[in-house]
Amino acid sequence: MNRIIEVSNLSRTYKLKGGHKTALDHVSFEVYEGEVFGLLGPNGAGKTTTIKILTTLLLPTSGQAKVLGYDVVKESAKIRDKINFVYGGERGVYGRLTAIEYMHYFCTLYKIPNKKQKELIQQLLSLVGLKDAANQKIHTYSKGMVQRLHIARCLINEPKIIFLDEPTIGLDPIGARLLRDLVRELAQKGITIILTTHYMQEADELCDRIAFIKNGAISLIGEPVHIKESCSHLKLFEATMQVYDTRKLEQDRFLQQVEVNEIKAPYYSVNFQVAEEEADHQKLTSYLETYGEVIKLEKREISLEDAYVHHMKDVG
Ligand SMILES: Nc1ncnc2c1ncn2[C@@H]1O[C@H](COP(=O)(O)OP(=O)(O)OP(=O)(O)O)[C@@H](O)[C@H]1O
Ligand SMILES: [Mg+2]
Repeated sequence: MNRIIEVSNLSRTYKLKGGHKTALDHVSFEVYEGEVFGLLGPNGAGKTTTIKILTTLLLPTSGQAKVLGYDVVKESAKIRDKINFVYGGERGVYGRLTAIEYMHYFCTLYKIPNKKQKELIQQLLSLVGLKDAANQKIHTYSKGMVQRLHIARCLINEPKIIFLDEPTIGLDPIGARLLRDLVRELAQKGITIILTTHYMQEADELCDRIAFIKNGAISLIGEPVHIKESCSHLKLFEATMQVYDTRKLEQDRFLQQVEVNEIKAPYYSVNFQVAEEEADHQKLTSYLETYGEVIKLEKREISLEDAYVHHMKDVG
């Protein structure tokens, strides 16, 4: 497999008044051609900093990063021609333009010959599902439509790699789904995609491989299925039960990661973890009965979110 991105010992510090902040601390990873690669981590972990360096918008403090074989510091112009990016929640200041006018503007910036612009714009707006809204002013667009328009824009230069920093932030479930479908379609066309997201389900659905990043360091890289397998020692349960004191249950010291969701009081769905040796169905039922009648108790499959929560807790 072709290594399309190679990051080695990459660090970045930001100067702050009276000190500095290490946003990236000797990070190394690789992305292969054609992959959808997800960077996941809490706020402030260093995801956007990584993307800014790889898109040549920010210089590293030390270490090396190569994109398409070119060095991000010494050969940034060569990289810029062949990649593109969309930052989530990008508003842009183009509300008074129609989508077509907006696309023409960027086609000109990208030096697409006039003759070719019309066809390219139609093709890209169709691809992102905005053909029917092409003559509408952008300020009338929903957030999801704006985000898809940004993606159409980022495809103008036929990038080999696109970077999507929180592409579905603020989108409603249908808008987010349309965007995920679009990401999948782009991946099928062979475009390598690096994305960040705080939605674990989304990362699980979209990404071939995922890196967990926290405090500027990568702690785990792998396929979602392997990341979940690495947590197979966690025993997860879901109970449907009566609960008369939800606060007490949430603070239970024997059950871990307790999540209580109301079905209709006093009936609740209760998710929790226990240590492997405690995962005895009958004993757990008796234990739970101290909170109220247990209607159902089932083992639950581990989700990427479970693995994420577990892992981020572990790395301190
Ligand atoms: N321009 C800056 N000046 C100073 N510190 C910065 C700057 N940009 C980022 N940081 C700090 O660097 C760290 C990493 O920030 P970064 O934006 O890369 O995180 P992130 O993983 O993208 O977080 P989020 O999920 O909130 O978007 C944070 O502690 C942040 O406060
Ligand atoms: Mg960010």
